[in-house]
Amino acid sequence: MNNPDHHAGQAVPVITIDGPSGSGKGTISQTLAEHLGWHHLDSGALYRLLAYAALQDSLDLNDEVALLALVGRLSESYQLPTRENPVIRLDGADVSDALRTERCADAASKTAALPAVRKALLAWQRHYRQPPGLVADGRDMGTVVFPDAELKLFLTARPGIRAERRYKQLKDKGMETDLVVLVKEVEARDARDSARKASPLKPAADALIIDNSDLNAADTLRQVLQAVHAIM
Ligand code: DC
Repeated sequence: MNNPDHHAGQAVPVITIDGPSGSGKGTISQTLAEHLGWHHLDSGALYRLLAYAALQDSLDLNDEVALLALVGRLSESYQLPTRENPVIRLDGADVSDALRTERCADAASKTAALPAVRKALLAWQRHYRQPPGLVADGRDMGTVVFPDAELKLFLTARPGIRAERRYKQLKDKGMETDLVVLVKEVEARDARDSARKASPLKPAADALIIDNSDLNAADTLRQVLQAVHAIM
């Protein structure tokens, strides 16, 4: 990997969008990246890919040594999905939908709590900071991975609303789930992601917090664009 943060002596601009699951950060960051013509890093997909590959290999999700070896293998072969080619592949197979299951999200939340795993993913994530710019979404993009970002946003919404959004997303993909179970799973994952010692889910001190519980996607995007245009 060459020195990805700086090109011709200038830092490549980054906008970070963090938040819990169901906050809409994925859709908003993808749309924003397209709008700006920048790259988009879905850091959750890296955590999910690692967890999925670990489950496939029947690894113990606490086995840091085995997980680190897996990060090394995946980071060599993983291609960031683009609008033209949105497919996420593992050993040639399309795993885009498999990564979205609750089983995979749950495993990702567990492996993501390991400090060594988070550390190993740092360089991999920073590698995506390429010209003309990067929109990065996740849990710790503004606090840990890109602390010097131009703009830091934190999207959130009430837990019940986020669970309902997840329910709809999964249903649209043909994955049937029970809303009551989903609310419990979302709350458990939030608690684990927020309580862990290593880079917990929390807004950066200089982040703009947007609660979109009562906003639709278009209104959320409008608020985000206002913030972006204020700095560019
Ligand atoms: O955003 P997501 O639902 O795809 O993320 C899946 C899991 O990965 C989530 O439970 C927490 C973890 N994650 C993380 O710890 N840090 C990130 N930057 C992104 C995701």
